[in-house]
Amino acid sequence: MRPAHGETAESEGAVPSPAPAGNDAAPARSDADPAEVAGMAPGVPVASPPRAADEPLLTARELCVTRARPGADDVFVHGVCLTVRRHQTVAIVGESGSGKSLTALALTKLTPPGFRVTAEVLRLDDTDIASLPESGLREIRGRRISMVFQNPMSALNPVIPVGRQITQVLSRHKGLRGRRARDRAVELLNLVEVPDPARRVRQYPFEMSGGMLQRVMIAMALSCGPDLLIADEPTTALDTTLQAQIMELLRQRQRDLGMGLLLISHDLGLVASEADEVNVMYAGRVVEHADVKTLFESPAHPYTRALLGTVREIASVTQNDLAPIPGAPPRLEQPPPGCPFAPRCPMVLDRCRAELPELRRIRDSQQAACHRAGE
Ligand SMILES: Nc1ncnc2c1ncn2[C@@H]1O[C@H](COP(=O)(O)OP(=O)(O)OP(=O)(O)O)[C@@H](O)[C@H]1O
Ligand code: SF4
Ligand SMILES: [Mg+2]
Repeated sequence: MRPAHGETAESEGAVPSPAPAGNDAAPARSDADPAEVAGMAPGVPVASPPRAADEPLLTARELCVTRARPGADDVFVHGVCLTVRRHQTVAIVGESGSGKSLTALALTKLTPPGFRVTAEVLRLDDTDIASLPESGLREIRGRRISMVFQNPMSALNPVIPVGRQITQVLSRHKGLRGRRARDRAVELLNLVEVPDPARRVRQYPFEMSGGMLQRVMIAMALSCGPDLLIADEPTTALDTTLQAQIMELLRQRQRDLGMGLLLISHDLGLVASEADEVNVMYAGRVVEHADVKTLFESPAHPYTRALLGTVREIASVTQNDLAPIPGAPPRLEQPPPGCPFAPRCPMVLDRCRAELPELRRIRDSQQAACHRAGE
């Protein structure tokens, strides 16, 4: 194990429009306050019970995301199991459209309108997220679980300067107002390397680059010292140096506050260097889960091998993006019978087209959903 968003926007005017359908799904719940969900309040962490480092912080079992349809519901996320411990970084990787963001949003029930989240277990420490009413979820979101959304432009209110969005959060969750809140907002932007933060706080989201908006979201997400940070492609718009600085900031929070990090990324180099454990998603399912070393050195699932291309050693992960794989992934709600990877798999057998492989243990700390894994 690695050592290791105030008042609502409603009061100010329009709330951000729902996120567009598709793979850039960000916070799309019309009733969700982006400031609230990104996680906001000044640096003093919200008190939560101390926990042993190896006890699960987040536990999700059989997490499903469905959408009602006449006849039968469409299933987008199928029975995902995730555990994140304090100080730990757990990654989710997979091609575009594999259900990574939907899974992340489901963890605090922030999926877009029309989607339903179910789980056998969904807990943060001793808090049963699965049974919480919306009011309880609002208490958790932002305070104990904060989120860096994949598309910050959709997550931030377009008609309010970013600084005011931060101070609204500070006011809402920490009671900070006036100059104290403004100073803290500047401090937070400074922390994530936003240049000239005293001027930037007065800018609107559309006046900022994608990289700058990502940093604003990260600052907001860290502001209340969350127990768990869910970061969905948090550094894609940042250059390498800035990415390294932001990741160091996150590591520092993990060390100092015991924060758990769920990192969603296409960047295998980032995952190899930051993650303790990796979940590989395909067609809305986790098809492989392993500690990072095992996954990069001995991937068990043909899909993971295809993603990694010829890379086998962590030290040799030089490519940043996932390797392109011939063929296209299925629509989540219309998977083929049997193994969803069968139409693209070089190892396919007749059995694969008929029988869905369950996630099973291959070796210590490695599980794969493949009939032929371990051969
Ligand atoms: N708001 C939405 N409305 C309708 N369908 C959606 C919505 N969000 C996601 N989906 C469906 O769920 C699928 C998975 O979306 P998701 O955003 O989880 O993918 P992802 O793995 O995060 O992809 P990417 O790597 O591109 O971010 C999409 O391809 C789409 O079919
Ligand atoms: S179950 Fe069969 S088709 Fe699916 S990944 Fe394994 S070998 Fe390939
Ligand atoms: Mg996504």
